[in-house]
Formats: sequence, C-alpha cells, structure tokens
Amino acid sequence: MHTITLGDDLTTSAMGFGAMAVTPVYGGTDEATALAVLHAAVDAGITFLDTADVYGAPEPGTDGPAGTNERLVARLLADRRDEVTLATKFGITGRIGAGVDPGIKRTRGDAEYVRHACNASLRRLGTDVIDLWYMHRRDIEVPIEETVGAMAEMVAAGKVRSLGLSEVTASELRAAHTVAPIAAVQSEWSLWSRDVEEHVVPACAELGVGFVPYSPLGRGFLTGTLTREQVAADLRGNTARTGENWAANQRVVDAVAAVAERLHATNAQVALAWLYAAGRRAGVPTVPIPGTRSIARITENAAAVDLMLDDEALTALDAVADLTVGGRNIVADPSWISSGRE
Ligand SMILES: NC(=O)c1ccc[n+]([C@@H]2O[C@H](COP(=O)([O-])OP(=O)(O)OC[C@H]3O[C@@H](n4cnc5c(N)ncnc54)[C@H](OP(=O)(O)O)[C@@H]3O)[C@@H](O)[C@H]2O)c1
Repeated sequence: MHTITLGDDLTTSAMGFGAMAVTPVYGGTDEATALAVLHAAVDAGITFLDTADVYGAPEPGTDGPAGTNERLVARLLADRRDEVTLATKFGITGRIGAGVDPGIKRTRGDAEYVRHACNASLRRLGTDVIDLWYMHRRDIEVPIEETVGAMAEMVAAGKVRSLGLSEVTASELRAAHTVAPIAAVQSEWSLWSRDVEEHVVPACAELGVGFVPYSPLGRGFLTGTLTREQVAADLRGNTARTGENWAANQRVVDAVAAVAERLHATNAQVALAWLYAAGRRAGVPTVPIPGTRSIARITENAAAVDLMLDDEALTALDAVADLTVGGRNIVADPSWISSGRE
C-alpha cells in the first residue's frame, strides 16, 4: 500500500485501521479473533493503527480510561512494533453513552493529567514511544495552550513523535499549532458527516495539517449491512440518525449502493474512496481509519485505496449529505463535537 505524510514528517499507510471496535462497543468479539484481526490489518499493509486509552469496557471496580484496547494492541506490538505506526489518545476520563449523566465532566486536559496519561498509555502499550498522540477531546475548562504545551513536553522527552487533536474547532487548531506543530486532526468525516468541511478542513489545508477521518463508514451505516435493531442496541442508537429517522436515512444507503453497483465495488469501498477524493479536493492529506472485527472486510476496505471515482460518482456521492436526516453527535452535549463549538 502506498504511504501518505501527515504534517511535516509522519508517514503512514494510506489507509489506517481503527481498533476501537475490536473491544466491545458495537457488539463484541473474542480476544483471539480481535488479535487475529489486528495482525490481518498489518498483513494487508494497513500499518497505521488507531487506539485510545478509553477504548474497551472498564475493568470491574475501576473508573476512568479502561486501557483494555491498548492492552490488546500491546499484544500485537510485542511481535510487530517496527511495522506499526502507532496512534493513541488521551483526555476522555468518563464513560459516554446511554444512561450516563450528560452533566458529568468527562474530559481532562490539565498539564498534570496529560503527563500522567502519556506514561499510562506507554506502560499499557508496552512501548517506549507513541508515533501519533492525540488529545481525544478538549477540556473546555483548560486553555488548549496548556494541554498542547504539556503534550509537547512528551515530544521533547522522546515519548511521543507527533501530535494530533480530535474534534477541535478551526480556532482551537490554530491556537494549538502556535504552541507545537500538529501533524493531524482526527474528527468524524464521511459522506453523511461533512460539517468539518466548513472550517476545520480548510484550516488543516492552510496550516499543513493532515486529516484522519474517523467513522469513515458512518459507524457501519453507509455499508448497508446494519439493521435498525442492531444499531439501537449500542452507542449508535444515540444519534438522531437512527430511531424514527432510520427509514428516511435508508435513502443514503441506496445512493451509495447505486454508485457501488455501477463501479463494481462495495459500499464501504465507495465511501472510503470518496474521502480520498474529498481530501484531494481540499488539499489535505487524508488517511481514513475504518474499523472492523472481520478479516475479510479488512481486505475489502484496503482495496478502496485503488478505487478511482469518476465525475458521475462524485456528483451522486456529494448529494448524499443532503439526504441525511439528523445530526452525528452521540452525546446530548452539543460541545462534544467541533461543530457544536464553532
Ligand atoms: N476520535 C474519536 O472521537 C473517534 C470516535 C469514533 C471512532 N474513532 C476511531 O475511528 C475508527 C473507525 O470508526 P468506527 O469504528 O466508529 O466506524 P466505521 O469505521 O465507520 O464503521 C465501523 C463499522 O462498520 C462495519 N464495517 C467495517 N467494514 C465493513 C465492510 N467492508 N462492510 C460492511 N461493514 C463494515 C463494522 O462492522 P464489523 O465489525 O461487524 O465488520 C463496524 O460496525 C474507530 O475504530 C476509532 O479508532 C475515533
């Protein structure tokens, strides 16, 4: 697989792998399968792995970042650290989702916590350096300059190679970039989640920052393989796009499927290929990180790097956002995502 450079010098495989769902979030999988999936991603040339300290079910009796996803990734790294570009994140300190009090503060970005989080991730991952370390969510009670200043200390200490920010606004990105170079923004970007194109993506183009679109398959929805019942049972049931808007949003799936059929590709491949096209159009190096618990789907998704979309396909796919009913946020608090703070 060819490579893409994010920021000044972070070179990654053109497609990454989002490891979030190999520990329970959209249903589950067993640990042996999860580890086999991680190996399969690297075997397929998808060597840019995305985890976070908060991914995975919390261990009984503990609070805060679970670390179980990082511990799983550590098992891959034990054998293959040199093959992997490792990305992880810190900053979400509480659980999100149904049944969680939306008034609870769920983020921390103070300097003391930043230092603690870095050391904790390194320990769990069993490595001495993180290639790309993201602030997962902004702590709006702490100036972003303090958070990024402490992240930069970790770079100076040799514990981190490059810095990233997730779900930041364009002005937060600009402020952060004056403190330390930011290699990549990771935020939701897909055919049906395009709010970042208004401010954040242009700021990335202006500053030379790469973009890592998360949930590039619309958390699976764009693939057309999910059922309403499946989605209602997990985190995805929290968005305004499911429930009573489920049926209306099937028009989105239909539009993607029509393009896929004409191009002899799959919905997932078309959704990923559109992101590469959108990144080129915006002048921003773009590396999507689809996740799956299936080895077969890794091969399918990897093939999207070679799928070129013609003008007819791009026109049809650009219209998908207008068919979408309901916002993308999975949390009741609008400030949880960048467009809620722009
Ligand atoms: N920074 C953030 O706040 C943030 C938020 C969310 C996610 N992320 C990152 O982004 C990564 C990807 O996001 P995501 O997992 O939310 O969503 P996604 O990659 O858009 O979609 C994942 C879903 O799509 C399904 N899928 C994958 N490939 C498929 C294919 N070829 N055909 C049919 N279905 C397919 C998976 O099901 P199966 O497992 O059954 O294949 C899974 O349910 C995460 O792993 C995480 O690393 C970051």
